[in-house]
Amino acid sequence: MDSRRNTLIQKREEAALGGGQARIDAQHKKGKLTARERIQLLLDEGTFCEIGAFVTHRSTDFGMEKQQFLGDGVVTGYGKVNDRTVYVFSQDFTVFGGSLSETHSEKICKIMDMALANGAPVIGMNDSGGARIQEGVVSLGGYADIFYRNVQSSGVVPQLSAIMGPCAGGAVYSPALTDFIFMVENTSYMFVTGPNVVKTVTNEDVSSEELGGASVHGSKSGVAHFTMANEVMCIQNLRKLLSYVPQNCEEKAPSIPYTLGNETRDVLKDIVPENPNQPYDMKEVIQGVVDADSFMEVHASYAENIVVGFARLAGKSIGVVANQPAFLAGVLDVHSSQKAARFVRFCDAFNIPLLVFEDVPGFLPGTDQEWNAIITNGAKLLYAFSEATVPRITVITRKAYGGAYDVMNSKHIGADMNFAWPTAEIAVMGAKGAAEIIFKREIDAAADRDAAWKEKEKEYGDLFANPYRAAARGFVDEVILPEETRMRLIQAFDMLQNKVKNNPKKKHGNIPL
Ligand code: HXC
Repeated sequence: MDSRRNTLIQKREEAALGGGQARIDAQHKKGKLTARERIQLLLDEGTFCEIGAFVTHRSTDFGMEKQQFLGDGVVTGYGKVNDRTVYVFSQDFTVFGGSLSETHSEKICKIMDMALANGAPVIGMNDSGGARIQEGVVSLGGYADIFYRNVQSSGVVPQLSAIMGPCAGGAVYSPALTDFIFMVENTSYMFVTGPNVVKTVTNEDVSSEELGGASVHGSKSGVAHFTMANEVMCIQNLRKLLSYVPQNCEEKAPSIPYTLGNETRDVLKDIVPENPNQPYDMKEVIQGVVDADSFMEVHASYAENIVVGFARLAGKSIGVVANQPAFLAGVLDVHSSQKAARFVRFCDAFNIPLLVFEDVPGFLPGTDQEWNAIITNGAKLLYAFSEATVPRITVITRKAYGGAYDVMNSKHIGADMNFAWPTAEIAVMGAKGAAEIIFKREIDAAADRDAAWKEKEKEYGDLFANPYRAAARGFVDEVILPEETRMRLIQAFDMLQNKVKNNPKKKHGNIPL
């Protein structure tokens, strides 16, 4: 009996060593944690239950049968994050560079199937050289099995990906199909083809960092939603993100206990400047409204003209989408529309109510935008808001001009409550531009052209550069003082908490991709 027990204990010890101490040391030398250390940091202490620790590959080509490592390069199982169940896989770079074999894929698919059946999030910690080269097409099939499950699980259970090393080839497409991608600065890379292939095909000289490092994907491509200075921060933020989202699409968004007190926020009074063309930081508005320190920004360095992120309002999870007048005057463009549309769809899929702050001068004009399909991309945001059935509230802080007024969660596309501050200007365009177009003849004929233009600008501004025309029509439900905003929003979301709205029955819509 003792020898049988010992066999198991020995096997466990062997599995825990992955590709061996020398490779673990090499991993640490690169500033990286091992697959198991990452899991320990991610999960509540003592909650990890491993599945498949003794799985080995079946490959016999290139003498592979002689190179067996228990677990085959990925640690899989389940455990708790803040006392809620999650499923996790963590690739082990010390075993064949974390490369994906048939059995490695089977282990990941097994926990994905369990997550889907039991309605809990899947967290993948990726550190992989891609398809296991010795296995050929079998490995490609393994990737496709995972991709298929990513898509089947999309919108059913949250899927988070942390990139914690090189991720090349097939290793990038599973993360790309998940809801959020976290990258670690200086140690993680994502590319379809690495620098060597790039050099061969396009003759470009580019480093891994320049091609697919965290800063590139966090600011240029938008592939990464979060970039973190190190792995520990990355894992802490994975845990934090989970605190805002439900376990699955059938659950309500989580909330933490909150007792109402004085919810007036005087700090909001003076944020919007007197001069309507002067920028201000919309994040001050967001932080002034939501619960203290609860705002978790997503895509912080990408398309900064729109701000998106999770927050809590009186303890309840919400998703925030806000134009940012401090960056490109808060215009909507190709990237900001895509960024916001994707976030809106995530929140809607997982029952997270949406709060929109609006100060938008319109869509960005120009050939660059038109040739990059601002029409199709702007339509994504219009589509995403229009199909969202979660409680949706808009606060217009200043400009709500042109088509962007319609797009930014207007009453017309299904918003439940629309508030405006006294500084709101809701019109087809700014008074100056409008006067130049509709009073062109009078202005040209005037003895003093500038004075005439100013007079007409004032006339248009007096009529439209305010929230009262829209309020008279009911397009704005209520004009409120900035300091009243937090309380009004708490009351409105509370009133909407049992909202039931169903879109027409269909197989699926056809969002302009
Ligand atoms: C088998 C692999 C491997 C792979 C690395 N290793 N990648 N084994 N299959 N894909 C092994 C190495 O042989 C080495 O083994 C160990 O892992 C560590 O690798 P190193 O090269 O020493 O590490 P490093 O210098 O840090 O470089 C890491 C790397 C590099 C950048 C990931 O290994 C690399 O470029 N690998 C190949 C990447 C690639 O082209 N993958 C296939 C993509 S095609 P030892 O025994 O020496 O420790 C693909 C198709 C899927 O994925 C498409 C689906 C849509």
